[in-house]
Amino acid sequence: MTSEEFPNLYEDDLLLVKALDEIGIDSRPAVWSDPAIDWLSFDALVIRTPWDYFVRLLEFRAWLDARIASGVRMCNSSDILDWNYDKRYLQELARAGVSVIPTIVVPQGERADVAVLARTRGWNDVVIKPTIAGGGYGTQRFRLEEADRHRGDIDRILLDRGLLIQPFLPEIQSAGELSLLFFDGVFSHAVCKRPKVGDYRVQFQYGGTTETAEVRDEWIEGARACVAAAPSLPVYARVDGVIRGNDFVLMELEVFEPLMFLAQHPDAPGRFARAIQRRLREAR
Ligand SMILES: Nc1ncnc2c1ncn2[C@@H]1O[C@H](COP(=O)(O)OP(=O)(O)O)[C@@H](O)[C@H]1O
Ligand SMILES: [Mg+2]
Repeated sequence: MTSEEFPNLYEDDLLLVKALDEIGIDSRPAVWSDPAIDWLSFDALVIRTPWDYFVRLLEFRAWLDARIASGVRMCNSSDILDWNYDKRYLQELARAGVSVIPTIVVPQGERADVAVLARTRGWNDVVIKPTIAGGGYGTQRFRLEEADRHRGDIDRILLDRGLLIQPFLPEIQSAGELSLLFFDGVFSHAVCKRPKVGDYRVQFQYGGTTETAEVRDEWIEGARACVAAAPSLPVYARVDGVIRGNDFVLMELEVFEPLMFLAQHPDAPGRFARAIQRRLREAR
């Protein structure tokens, strides 16, 4: 499943389509906002590039709720999608003992004095971001003395979604952000994403770059603990984090619509395809 901007999918998923084809599974791109599509005509919907969902918020949520209600099989499964859609899950994971970047969540509809909240935690340099977002959407970094300048943006975010406040982690600029990729809970490959000089956002939209990364077993274990904390076993998972000391600290568990960096490992597209195949077989 994709969006109007990517009617022929993104490069990552072209590799997946080929790998599915090689094991005899037909697939085709379907744009979520296309009213002509009969979603129940598919054996499964693999949620890949609905990257406008956080802009068309209510419309997309209605689409997702309708699919969940219809009982159509989704990859990842609907319990995971419903849970992972809003980054409030970070707080839940932290409570469950997962190592997460310290995070304050301000619920939608409330007013937030970011400077007051952050000061009580001893944070001076903060990052704020909407709880429903992707690709760095709405993410801002500032020092508390500049907080007043961001008040308008913060109020706007809180109109229709929640707000996350975190300390700025300098490791993003020194070491980069790691993405560890899992299929059916099994580690596949890892990449390191770095921001361009002068930025802190690692996404390609902001000039960030990605390279294959070697990761230590302890980091894989740290990331695996994040995957295991999802409501059920995800077909695909991307665990984004930074290394602090020698520990993997979670930035984001992406089990909704992650780029999987399939081109970075020759076996990755086949692993993804077979994980989907296993779910289709279970469905019979
Ligand atoms: N606490 C933080 N410290 C440093 N950089 C951050 C922090 N939070 C987010 N960023 C930067 O902003 C990017 C986007 O944030 P993220 O939580 O991954 O949201 P999304 O990718 O869903 O938009 C991250 O990839 C990272 O580069
Ligand atoms: Mg991210």
